[in-house]
Amino acid sequence: MSENINSMIIGTGRAIPEKTLTNKDLEQIVDTSDEWIRTRTGMQVRHIVADGELTSDLCTRAAKEALDDAGLGVMDIDMIIVGTITGDMGFPSTACFVQQKLGAENAAAMDIHAACSGFIYGLEIADSLIVAKKAKTVLVIGGETLSRITDYTDRNTCVLFGDGAGAAVVVPSDGNRGILGTFTKSDGRLYELLYMPGMGTAHPPSHETVDQRLHYIKMAGREVFKAAVTAMGDAAEHIIERCNLSSDDVDMVISHQANLRIIDATGRRVKVPKSRVYVNVQNYGNTSAASIPIALDEARREGKLRDGQTVVLVAFGAGFTWGSAAVRF
Ligand code: UT7
Repeated sequence: MSENINSMIIGTGRAIPEKTLTNKDLEQIVDTSDEWIRTRTGMQVRHIVADGELTSDLCTRAAKEALDDAGLGVMDIDMIIVGTITGDMGFPSTACFVQQKLGAENAAAMDIHAACSGFIYGLEIADSLIVAKKAKTVLVIGGETLSRITDYTDRNTCVLFGDGAGAAVVVPSDGNRGILGTFTKSDGRLYELLYMPGMGTAHPPSHETVDQRLHYIKMAGREVFKAAVTAMGDAAEHIIERCNLSSDDVDMVISHQANLRIIDATGRRVKVPKSRVYVNVQNYGNTSAASIPIALDEARREGKLRDGQTVVLVAFGAGFTWGSAAVRF
């Protein structure tokens, strides 16, 4: 086992919008079927924000739950990190909106734009800040309203995405438990396989960019699938080895919830049986940066991930970005 444990997660929370979008609902919108979606992705239902409900609202709700769980108050927070690609505005950061909504006056705040890997990137930064003694209480949040950038005329993508947020409170470790290690990696060469071309300065919004639907997610699903299986398997294997763990030491694997077949493949790659691979993709779809912290909170609150147990978190997303973390609770 790793000897240098510097930080630990002491609280988690999540926020899920009330409104749902089922496979049956999607059958009414595009040429798809419940059967196709279930067999290709494992998804059954996603949650979608109401009009006026923002990413920062979901993040703030998740953060409050995580702080309650940790037994800390908003004034304890000295850094807020939000992983999101669906921030409230072009700028300022969504983290600043969360800071304002929480009233966390002692905190600095920033966003991480690492798509589905945003929570893992945030966790690595939180751990590093705590190691460097630059922060004592870091709120790491993954929050998305992907429904706002989903093209509901494109059956290749619109069946996949949902909204939500999850949060974790990270503090210095008490020595025995905590973040055993983190790993992050990117490959910008393949960005065109999964991206949203519009809304940035490369294609400033205009009638043409809207007509060309550049403000929506574009994905080459099959290519992304292959890259995700390889990268997530590599990342999970890497963190297990680097933290001197064996498959038997891993009580749970929580992968980014993009597709049941990718989640299963990651578990198989690191020889962790299905019973220890957490799956909730059927209930939320792909919520990008939110998927891992939502699953982590659910697993803890359901009593499936208990104190003393070790979880491997692993993500892959647009960029490409990917990463992993091993955490003992
Ligand atoms: O979160 C970041 C990472 N994202 C991911 O990891 C997503 C990775 N990709 C995937 O999960 C899968 O590639 C998809 C679920 C997106 C697609 O599954 P697939 O098994 O790779 O299907 P495909 O793209 O190869 O498409 C197979 C067929 C195509 O028809 P033809 O060309 O074979 O006639 C598609 O047009 O399925 C068709 N298709 C659909 N049919 C019914 C694509 N989307 C749909 C749909 N309903 N919603």
